[in-house]
Amino acid sequence: VNLPPEYREFLLSDLEPGQVYRRCLERLQSDGLTADYQLTETLVYGVEVRYALQVLEGRAPQLYNFGDLDGKGDPVLFQALRQASGQRVAFVGCGPYPVTALLTRRESPDARVTCFDNQIVAFLLARAVLARLDPEIGVELADASEIDYRGYDVIVLAAMVGNKEPLVGRLLAETQAQVVVRGSVPGTHPRLHTVSSQFRADGSL
Ligand SMILES: C[S@@+](CC[C@H](N)C(=O)[O-])C[C@H]1O[C@@H](n2cnc3c(N)ncnc32)[C@H](O)[C@@H]1O
Repeated sequence: VNLPPEYREFLLSDLEPGQVYRRCLERLQSDGLTADYQLTETLVYGVEVRYALQVLEGRAPQLYNFGDLDGKGDPVLFQALRQASGQRVAFVGCGPYPVTALLTRRESPDARVTCFDNQIVAFLLARAVLARLDPEIGVELADASEIDYRGYDVIVLAAMVGNKEPLVGRLLAETQAQVVVRGSVPGTHPRLHTVSSQFRADGSL
């Protein structure tokens, strides 16, 4: 990935990882740049892998959602949890540092959460982090398109999951779950909860 030097400096700096993420987004905006999916992944993983390594090194976890920039995302998710008939949660696109899944369990200790990611590094690190912090959260290596969604009460799609529109249509038609989406999808539905996100439809910044 051809990462511009100033972003590389941010990513490798001693700044708190969430601050790195914010700085990179601000910089992209002021440079008038968009990143393709691969570059987005590099930026996000540059942040999340560092959080994951901190946990694996035995440091106290940072349990705030660095990606929830305006603070409005988690309340939407927690509201959907309260509206759900049960507490089985699928978190699709958990990332190397599955902080939203961890926060969900803090909010709702009875929730049975399963994380999914289609990227091997994200899956392996998420598994190692969850083994340390909350072994009751499951994690699977799977693409959003191949998950068996039956039986979940809440399904959360992360911002980087691309092509959400057909998937959301399928989830609303085939399950009774509350569907929480970071990013925009057209249309409304009583069980659809969207959280504004700076990511584009293909999951890139
Ligand atoms: C922004 S990150 C993770 C979110 C963050 N760690 C959290 O807890 O809110 C998004 C993740 O989505 C994963 N992802 C993107 N597209 C996916 C897909 N189609 N299926 C499963 N995971 C996907 C990426 O590999 C990445 O690790």
